[in-house]
Amino acid sequence: MNAARCYTSMPGPRPLPLFGNSWRFALGQKPWQTKALDITLWTLRAVAGDGGAAKVAKLFGHPDLVFPFCAEETARVYRREDSMPYRAVAPCLRHYKNDLRKDFFGDEPGLIGVHGEPWSRFRSKVSKALAAPEAARAAVPALDYVAEDFVERMERIVDGNRELPKDFLSELYKWALESVGAWALGTRLGCLSDDDKEAKEIIRCIHGFFHSVPELELSAPVWRLYSTAAYKTYVEALDAFRSLCLRRLTDKGVCAQIAAKSGEKVATILALDLLLVGVDTTAAAAASAIYLLANNERAQKRLQSELDNNLPTDRILTSKDLDRLPYLRACIKEALRIKPVILGNGRCIQSDAVISGYEVPKGSHIVFPHYILSNEERYFPSPQEYIPERWLRDDVTEEYTGPSENISRCPINHSRKEKQVSNMCDHARARSIWCRQKEVGIHPFASLPFGFGRRMCIGKRFAEAELQLLLAKIFHRYNVSWNYGELTYSVTPTYVPNEPLQFTITPRKES
Ligand code: HEM
Repeated sequence: MNAARCYTSMPGPRPLPLFGNSWRFALGQKPWQTKALDITLWTLRAVAGDGGAAKVAKLFGHPDLVFPFCAEETARVYRREDSMPYRAVAPCLRHYKNDLRKDFFGDEPGLIGVHGEPWSRFRSKVSKALAAPEAARAAVPALDYVAEDFVERMERIVDGNRELPKDFLSELYKWALESVGAWALGTRLGCLSDDDKEAKEIIRCIHGFFHSVPELELSAPVWRLYSTAAYKTYVEALDAFRSLCLRRLTDKGVCAQIAAKSGEKVATILALDLLLVGVDTTAAAAASAIYLLANNERAQKRLQSELDNNLPTDRILTSKDLDRLPYLRACIKEALRIKPVILGNGRCIQSDAVISGYEVPKGSHIVFPHYILSNEERYFPSPQEYIPERWLRDDVTEEYTGPSENISRCPINHSRKEKQVSNMCDHARARSIWCRQKEVGIHPFASLPFGFGRRMCIGKRFAEAELQLLLAKIFHRYNVSWNYGELTYSVTPTYVPNEPLQFTITPRKES
């Protein structure tokens, strides 16, 4: 502490005497826009300098935000975190659980938006059933049915030019919701059929929910003063999900195991939390992975070759089948590296600490901006290039090395170092980047899409299994292409594409 630099010397945008830094976000101009937090983070990264940190201080009703832009520092802070880590809460959800529906939640408010003892008690009740590897492995067959139905649905909704509809992201929400229903509640919700009345109602609520979240959680909290339209939609959706969970809890699925051990109420509250955070996250991850593969013929072909060789098509898949698809897993990791669904993970520190060499006062909110670290040259050479091979140990690109061929038409604005390798064909370039990645290694804290430590994502393994099954089926059956410009992204609060996801899907001859 003695050798540390003073907190006031940490760089960051200068607060104004009365308005602090809140006015920047109130004006809503880039780079200080809640929807464009990716740009905000890159700006702060520049302010912080190499290996340093930056802060955004004096925000109304919010602790100071401190951003350590360094994987080693992230590791150090995470490894010393409290036994009950405190993650900043979505205020509207806290209000729903703690005030509005206090009668229902009582002293069992769940995991999301909960801290301290109540969180710790709840997590220990549900941890084994959710986080253990066997739990996700056992869910694979149920998830396989959902993925199969979704791919059949894709065939129904594709247009005459074989383009998927503009609202394909909403379709992915339905797939993700149906998947959570299948493994958590042990039931099919019917979201993938066209004429299920209850399913239509659930989908209406899920749309309302995800459209109201950005306004309620990222803009000024006007809902605290009066019930805005977004607030009403949000509460209506949460009430509908709550009664859905109560109604549709079966004797199968993960929540049934919890109900048997800890009672139906705990199981229902868990199911609600899983629906709240397990739908938009997985759907956004699927959207980005499909987009990146659609834009990368080499990786797509390589994935298809793995699927052709290893994916059984005559029976329901099991976790063992997924174990034989390492390139598929690498494709997902690489997508989450370039386009993580959550841009940064936060912890409120409960005592004074030294972070990146600065004294940081207790109560500050530390944001680990893994979106920045996982897109930095020092951790991932040629970071904007989608090279799943980075995540594979063996020299797997060798067989793909082709003759050099000029790719000067490449739209990426390469750095000088990158240009040395950009004069090659795709396969040789991938191999070159793979070699450079091997030289620097992969820092275990440079890409943390699921967080870390005691509060890390409890649905990680399920999400991975869901994504593996969906992508395996789509890319085994179709060549997927993207015929539009580069997608832009917004924070809503998940990081999702702005433009319609009109992928073109062409049946493959082999399948
Ligand atoms: C690709 C998909 C997903 C991503 C990228 C993701 C990411 C995250 C992240 C970053 C956190 C915070 C971790 C931390 O604070 O260290 C989190 C927490 C959580 N996630 Fe996920 N998640 C995904 C899918 C899911 C799914 C499918 C479920 C369950 C249905 C789920 C359930 C949860 C829960 C319950 C928490 C709160 C854990 C706690 O506070 O104890 N997530 N997730």
